[in-house]
Amino acid sequence: MSRTPRDILVTSALPYANGPIHLGHMLEYIQTDIWVRYQKIRGENCTYVCADDAHGAAIMLKAEQLGLTPEQQIANVQKEHERDFAGFNVAFDNFHTTHSEENRELSSLIYQKNKDKGYIVDREITQLYDPEKEMFLADRFVKGECPKCGAADQYGDNCEVCSATYAATELKNPYSTISGSTPIEKPTTQLFFDLPQFQDMLKEWTRSGTLQEGMANKLSEWLEAGLQQWDISREAPYFGFEIPGYPGKYFYVWLDAPIGYMASFKNLCDRQEDLDFDHYWKKDSSAELYHFIGKDIINFHGLFWPAMLTGAGYRTPTGVYSHGFVTVNGEKMSKSRGTFIKAETYLQHLNPEYLRYYYGVKLSNRIDDIDLNLEDFAQRVNSDLVNKLVNIASRCAGFIKKKFDNTLSENIADPDLVQEFQNSGDVIAEFYENREFGQALRTIMSLADKANQYIDEQKPWVYIKEEGKQEQVKDTCSMGINLFRILMIYMKPVLPVMAADAEVFLNIEPLSWDDKNHVLTNHEVKKFKPLMQRVEMDKVNAMVEQSKAEAEAAALLNKPKVTIDPNSPLAQEPIADEISFDDFAKIDLRIVKIVKAEHVKKANKLLQLTLDLGGEERNVFAGIKSAYNPEDLEGKLTVMVANLAPRKMKFGMSEGMVLAAGPGEEDIYILSPDSGAVPGMRVK
Ligand code: MSP
Ligand code: ZN
Repeated sequence: MSRTPRDILVTSALPYANGPIHLGHMLEYIQTDIWVRYQKIRGENCTYVCADDAHGAAIMLKAEQLGLTPEQQIANVQKEHERDFAGFNVAFDNFHTTHSEENRELSSLIYQKNKDKGYIVDREITQLYDPEKEMFLADRFVKGECPKCGAADQYGDNCEVCSATYAATELKNPYSTISGSTPIEKPTTQLFFDLPQFQDMLKEWTRSGTLQEGMANKLSEWLEAGLQQWDISREAPYFGFEIPGYPGKYFYVWLDAPIGYMASFKNLCDRQEDLDFDHYWKKDSSAELYHFIGKDIINFHGLFWPAMLTGAGYRTPTGVYSHGFVTVNGEKMSKSRGTFIKAETYLQHLNPEYLRYYYGVKLSNRIDDIDLNLEDFAQRVNSDLVNKLVNIASRCAGFIKKKFDNTLSENIADPDLVQEFQNSGDVIAEFYENREFGQALRTIMSLADKANQYIDEQKPWVYIKEEGKQEQVKDTCSMGINLFRILMIYMKPVLPVMAADAEVFLNIEPLSWDDKNHVLTNHEVKKFKPLMQRVEMDKVNAMVEQSKAEAEAAALLNKPKVTIDPNSPLAQEPIADEISFDDFAKIDLRIVKIVKAEHVKKANKLLQLTLDLGGEERNVFAGIKSAYNPEDLEGKLTVMVANLAPRKMKFGMSEGMVLAAGPGEEDIYILSPDSGAVPGMRVK
């Protein structure tokens, strides 16, 4: 029975290019990736695209602070983001950037189509302007006293103390957070998307049954309050796309960000023949389109985005699925507690599949927040994955290898049990499809319990010692391995790496969902390797400690900079890019004694040094002739790089390097250690 696969396009929200991916973000990318992997092994035609959200004032200012152009900044961040996502095995079909030609074209096109239809209007408003920085100030770059309750230090859009919302111009005693100066009010013409024209369309769309109830409720609050026109333009300086026909004005980042979904897909279609852009995006398309997002960006995806698409004559999303926020140990992620954990930091300590599983267990299709309790995390992973799931395979594989030539039985000892495992596939599939991952995983784990129970009852470790029971043990263990195989099919969307390792052990092609319907008999398996190590609390704690230290270091870097004297060495040669401790530890610095120093014939800059490393001698050419007489050097202690690859020079082989400071000529100073150091000591 073959059926036509569904055409499904899936997105996760586009992460901002001004900061690293953290475990809060990872909830969303793991959730989406599990759903996409599920669709793929079911045989659907599913495509998963994402991109960096590269525009906006925040990114421009961040780049400025780092001394980079915005283009350099977003290129660096994109590399880091892609590395982190790959580290967690989030398998995008394409990861692009909103600062792309595809996005520029599509943004202009969608803007123009909406404008032609009368959905874009312009009008003059007054905005706060930073006279020192010569720029208009976005709401988040102005602070002042709340016009309602008087609380100090509130942002330009709403008060965190009394929750009042207001215009930035209403703040009392406002100041620019960028320069500290007092903003002035300046008139400017801005472009607005006329959202109220979509009131009826949106009322219907948000209640059409495709949105989660929690989300539809939230949206109806806005709809009932009456929709406002949406300001889609920003004044220069701004990092983004200039609006056609309005020099010096740029699209607000949230206009071109969701269009970035289309642009990333377009970029993929241009490379991949069998993907047709229009098929997925045209009005009334039969393809399905899903956006996975966090609860903080519901209005953009539930109101502006479907309205913009409709205005421009495109389809609307089939579903927009929002998840809640991650808390750690019951509290908001906190830098000082070390629970603001970067994806990169996590990966230095722990297996990504632990987190994929734990988030999976915690996820439902509702918008509730999700707590990452680190103790519970370790216990859950150990008891479910290590003690239950992997245990099934490990307790059977040994006997099959030792006694039965790594070959499974010809028969299935308990066909009813196998049947039960196979039949469970349908409910598990439904749970995955409905994004009830927790329920899917609980169902799989109760099957794992049954598999272990079966092995317990069959007692292969007892019967292996009895004569005439060998075939029975072989059957039991073959059953166990077949049950394990079916469970790995069900786990594959969540644990792609363990599934791949299991496929190697089982000596089979990559598993897809329908493979649950057959079993392995008279089949040779490969050597069993442990499929997962236990989570150790030591490593979890080390990760938290490192996160704390990283936050402290970042806080130091963000301290207001003192102006550096332009003549100081620091101004002439700025401090190099940060390296990790591991990078540093690669350099082996040693104390050495200069036993001989000589001129080198025909060399203007070099002295030839013979260095005693405390038992070993090195020949090193050093460019310090302009600053030192050879005889003054002999007998001195200094520091050398002892593990530098030897370099062949015109005058001979140089076996390392001595360290010296200074710009050159007579201004060179070799380093010497305090008294007490002896040749051979490591400098670290
Ligand atoms: N750039 C926008 C999205 C544009 S989509 C056209 C953005 N970026 S973000 O980097 O701030 O967030 C990316 C996604 O991660 C969002 O869906 C956001 O809700 C989610 N999360 C960020 N922090 C989170 C938690 N602490 N917990 C769960 N999800 C979180 O918003
Ligand atoms: Zn207030």
